[in-house]
Formats: sequence, C-alpha cells, structure tokens
Amino acid sequence: MSILVTGGAGYIGSHVARLLEERGEAVVVIDDFSSGFRSRVSGQVVELDLGAADATARLIDVMQEHGVSAVVHLAALKDVAESVAEPERYYRVNVGGLGHLLEAMRSAGVHQIVFSSSAAVYGAVQDVVVTERTPCSPINPYGQTKLIGEWMLGAAGDAWGLRAISLRYFNVAGAGWDDLADTAATNLIPIVVARTRRGEPAVVFGDHHDTPDGTCVRDYIHVADLARAHLAAVDTLRCDDGFVGPVNIGTGTGASVREVVTEVSEALGVPTRIRIDDARAGDPAAVVADPSVAAERLGWHARHGLDAIVRSALGVVRA
Ligand SMILES: NC(=O)c1ccc[n+]([C@@H]2O[C@H](COP(=O)([O-])OP(=O)(O)OC[C@H]3O[C@@H](n4cnc5c(N)ncnc54)[C@H](O)[C@@H]3O)[C@@H](O)[C@H]2O)c1
Repeated sequence: MSILVTGGAGYIGSHVARLLEERGEAVVVIDDFSSGFRSRVSGQVVELDLGAADATARLIDVMQEHGVSAVVHLAALKDVAESVAEPERYYRVNVGGLGHLLEAMRSAGVHQIVFSSSAAVYGAVQDVVVTERTPCSPINPYGQTKLIGEWMLGAAGDAWGLRAISLRYFNVAGAGWDDLADTAATNLIPIVVARTRRGEPAVVFGDHHDTPDGTCVRDYIHVADLARAHLAAVDTLRCDDGFVGPVNIGTGTGASVREVVTEVSEALGVPTRIRIDDARAGDPAAVVADPSVAAERLGWHARHGLDAIVRSALGVVRA
C-alpha cells in the first residue's frame, strides 16, 4: 500500500514526502512542476496536472498501479495577490483539481485524505486567538478555494464515506533539510532574509497596530513541525473511528514583524534596519492559532520556535 502525495515537489510537500519515506512508507508523488522542482523528489513521481481534462482517468490508473490507500493533497496555487487578479485559474486548479482527485479516489476506493488548508479560510478575524469554531469568511479567492475544498471533502464524506482531515496551516517558514527550502520568497521570513542580506531595510506595514510593539503579530510554524502534523493526520485517519475535520496547525504563540526582523538581523550579525510603510487595509493586528485540537486529536504539537525557524531559513534563502 502506498501514500499519494500531490504537490510533493513543492516546498511543504517535499518535506512531507521525505518524512513519510524516512519512516518506511511507500510514497508516490504527483506534480506538474509548475512551481515545484524534480530535484526535491527522490522516489516514485508521476508528472500530471490535476486541473487537466484527463486528470481523473490518469489518477485512477496511478492509484490502482501503486495500491494507494491514502492521499495527502498539497498541490495548489497559493499566491493571494495572483488569486485576486486571476480567480478563474485559482478555481480551476484548486477547486477543479480537487474535484478530479475526489472522483478518482471514489472510483479507486481510496477513502482517506489529508488536505492542505490554510488560516486564509478565516479571513480578517476579530479575535486574536483563532479556534476551529471561529467563523470562516475568506477575503480573497485563494482563501475561498481552500474553504470550498473543505466543503467538498465534507460532502464526499456524507456521500460515500470519505474520511478527511483539513490542516489549516498558519504562517509556514524554515527548512527541515537545506535542499527542500522555500525558494519562492513570497512569505515574510524569506523576504526579510533576502532584503537584510542585500543590506536593504525590511519593510514593515504599520507600527501603530494594537500589539505590544505596534507591528502585526502572526503565528509562525516550522515546516518540519508542519510535515510531522501530516504524518499524525495520516495515522489518525488509519484508525477507523479516528477524528475527521479541520485542525489548526500553529504554535499558539505569536511573533511580531519587528521581532522577526530583529531575529533575522541578529542571526546574520547585522544591525536591525526597518522602513515603516502605511498599514495595509484589512490586515488584522494579531492572529494566533489555538492548537489544542491538534494536540488532543492528532497528538501533535510544535517543537520549534522563531529562533529555529529563522536559523533554518538562513541556511538556504539567498538574496
Ligand atoms: N506556504 C505556506 O505558507 C502555506 C500556507 C497555508 C497553506 N499552504 C498550502 O500548502 C500547499 C503547499 O504549499 P507550498 O508552500 O509547498 O507551495 P509550492 O508552490 O511550493 O507547492 C505546490 C506544489 O504543487 C504543484 N502543483 C501546483 N499546481 C498543480 C497542478 N495543477 N497539478 C499538479 N501539481 C501542481 C507545484 O508544482 C508545487 O510542486 C498548498 O496547497 C498551499 O495552498 C501553504
């Protein structure tokens, strides 16, 4: 029996695939290499666009050939600004792609899936601490596609008994292995690292937020911790009466943008340089996960803090 990892050539997916292989699982990766790299995948890999018209038939073949018993579905487009500019493409890949995957799983008799969801499903939250009961109200097409994905999984559960855990990731960063690092530089930590290395000040959007130092507070999660959460979810799904549903994946502790910039500067041994720009409309002052469902239902908790995240990112993020 093997585990199918979609998006396994990507930043997070490659960490998940490697961790599964390290504990002796048979893994087959599916990726179209639109943002992932072949060099990140060592085992079985099938090049396939989940959004393509023939994807369902090809997925059924892969599932049957490899005896797939569970799916970890990470393949998706993830750039929020791009999703605002090109919503149709985001819906085709993220929603249409998941539709093809679920059709194939139903045909091939595969009943377990771990889904890459996101804290983006919550939208502009009012409360600092976000639980899975916090109302979902995404504010961009990217977040909408993730929430629709969760609904699709719930509907498939009702219709044919699919068992799904949706991991709502908070702010993912760092590297578990240097060769699997995030090269996209679209998230805060890689951006700050790149600017600091170039000797440029880090740009901070607003320093009058209602937080201790006035800059926005977020919950940063080490990608190695996140990858472990996927294995815990796979194990939970293997128990027939195990938990299904959404789970926040964060540390429960926030760090401000100023703290991130300071941590990066100290690790690089350079003075902290910050340029304050206008606050961005709709940017919540502070957002932190309540990770207690992950602890209770998956037996998972984060091991790494900001220091380890930044230092692991520094090994690999180039200017
Ligand atoms: N990185 C984050 O901070 C973050 C936060 C929350 C949720 N997520 C979610 O986690 C997942 C993985 O994110 P990542 O940061 O590793 O991104 P990534 O871009 O590095 O990985 C995505 C992978 O999916 C592949 N892919 C994209 N479209 C595909 C398609 N149509 N068919 C097959 N493969 C396709 C890409 O080539 C890539 O290898 C995504 O679903 C993303 O929405 C990421």
